[in-house]
Amino acid sequence: MCGIVGYVGAKPAEGVVIEGLRRLEYRGYDSAGIALVDGGSIVSDKRAGKLANLEKAIAESPLPQVTTGIGHTRWATHGPPTDRNAHPHLGRTRRVALVHNGIIENFAELRGRLESEGVEMASDTDTEVAAHLLEEQLETGVDLTVAMQNVCRGLHGAFTLVAVDAHDPDRVVAARRNSPLVVGIGEGENFLGSDVAAFIEHTREAMELDQDQVVTITRDGVSVSGFDGTPAEGRRYHVDWDLSAAEKDGHDWFMRKEIFEQPRAVADSLLGRRGTDGLLQLDEMRLSDQDLRDVDKIIIIAAGTSFYAGMVAKYAIEHWCRIPVEVELASEFRYRDPILTSDTLVVAISQSGETADTLQAIRHAREQRSKVLSICNTNGSTIPRESDGVIYTHAGPEIGVASTKGFLTQLVACYLLALYLAQVKGTRYGDEISQVMDQLDQMPAHIQTVLDKSEQVYGLARDHVGSRSVLFLGRHAGYPVALEGALKLKEIAYLHAEGFAAGELKHGPIALVEEGLPILCIVPPRGRDQLHDKMISGIQEVRARGARTLCLAEEGDTAIEPYADVLITLPQVPVLLQPLVAVVPLQLFACELATQLGHDVDQPRNLAKSVTVE
Ligand code: AGP
Repeated sequence: MCGIVGYVGAKPAEGVVIEGLRRLEYRGYDSAGIALVDGGSIVSDKRAGKLANLEKAIAESPLPQVTTGIGHTRWATHGPPTDRNAHPHLGRTRRVALVHNGIIENFAELRGRLESEGVEMASDTDTEVAAHLLEEQLETGVDLTVAMQNVCRGLHGAFTLVAVDAHDPDRVVAARRNSPLVVGIGEGENFLGSDVAAFIEHTREAMELDQDQVVTITRDGVSVSGFDGTPAEGRRYHVDWDLSAAEKDGHDWFMRKEIFEQPRAVADSLLGRRGTDGLLQLDEMRLSDQDLRDVDKIIIIAAGTSFYAGMVAKYAIEHWCRIPVEVELASEFRYRDPILTSDTLVVAISQSGETADTLQAIRHAREQRSKVLSICNTNGSTIPRESDGVIYTHAGPEIGVASTKGFLTQLVACYLLALYLAQVKGTRYGDEISQVMDQLDQMPAHIQTVLDKSEQVYGLARDHVGSRSVLFLGRHAGYPVALEGALKLKEIAYLHAEGFAAGELKHGPIALVEEGLPILCIVPPRGRDQLHDKMISGIQEVRARGARTLCLAEEGDTAIEPYADVLITLPQVPVLLQPLVAVVPLQLFACELATQLGHDVDQPRNLAKSVTVE
């Protein structure tokens, strides 16, 4: 959700903080703010709207060139996105400035107590109470680190807090509970960020923290403790991507850049998965073969695009491993009292590794003694850290709010998991597994073939600038692709878009079809089963009612030609792997349509990249 930066060092803090916020703005962009410590006082500015508004204000009214500061980009939860609700929030004597990500659940009670003591609130946020509480603590004579420990013990909910004290200019203190925070370790300078993008241009050395920890950074050191003051250690790691991965590389949008990075991202996610003996190996799996042999049911939990990757995983796992798989929205999972045992494997799919709904779902699963395996793109994030095993995707940083390469690499990880389970459980012969691995190895080239035809898809998008609604149809593994295509269009083009299982249309949704309605149809490859023919019947039904059919079908599929107003060809691949190529034109379509409509593709309205509130 929100993006947080903290800095203490030798450079002007304003530049470091604003640059960090720019790299984190994808996390939230309702407002932005900065606070600097200047010779015993706090100087702060904060503005509703995007970071550019704050930058303009600072250009008109420059801030002092000091070397300690914090900053924030907001995704509003409590109170509308206005100047007064923007972070940082200050205590009543302006000694403390504080930024926050998450929700302080007992803020109403704390606010009531502070107001009864005469504190006047300057905002509608839950955050402001923490600034006042920190000041109260400092007035007792403790330092900011101890003040933070004491305050955090009385807070409920999920939060990352980062604060500075006007009287202690060389120290920035942060705390985390169920919300992301990483430390950047430099030389003569240290950083705090919601993720490593905040400081990647300064250092690639990072430290992750556990739950309920407070970290203090100074120029020369980093110290960690529990909320109770017990000294603790963070885990240091090296970030394996650099600044260029966080730049747009000549593209107009991060999303477009990330779509075009997919052949590389898929190749990287497949790298090193086969041992010299030809067997699949998943290094970070951490679950023993016996644990996996004992698995009698799999439940996949995820949100949004990651949920659709989970739907594809169900087809692959059930087909290759014959293990029953349920796919569940993370936000619904624990409220239905799911049946979990120690032989249930819960698979959590999350690009960010910080999605609160998914995190709470895996905690529930672990409390019921089920094993949790996560599929994640973000090293050091909370979900993999709280899982029994992990399969990291290697997409590199995904900045565009609409997930693209994140999705494709999640699909790869799902296929790898399914094949690994088949290997361990012996439900497929080794040569069958090798054959699918060979097919997967060819996918980067196939995805590139689809990207090479991007102009055709862009033309199609431009033809649909006036459309009010677009439907998507798919069957089998093409059904989640249809859902994902519709989600992309909703997210960035703000168009009404729905994905349907083609066979379900006649049970109601076909009533939506009217003259000229564009329907994108994902046609399964021709195979031994009747999927392909059934899909053609569905397409005929909507055409008969006036729909304009835009069909994605494999090269050489002449049977579809009479029923397609527009035909986009896909490489010939097996049906289970087809999502890897079929979703790409849908991503390009949404990206171009949103661009033509003049929308901010990377930062669509009302959304945030990482949804760290439930
Ligand atoms: C994808 O385009 C969305 N922005 C969103 O649905 C996302 O996939 C969802 O919030 C889950 O995020 P995660 O993968 O980081 O857990």
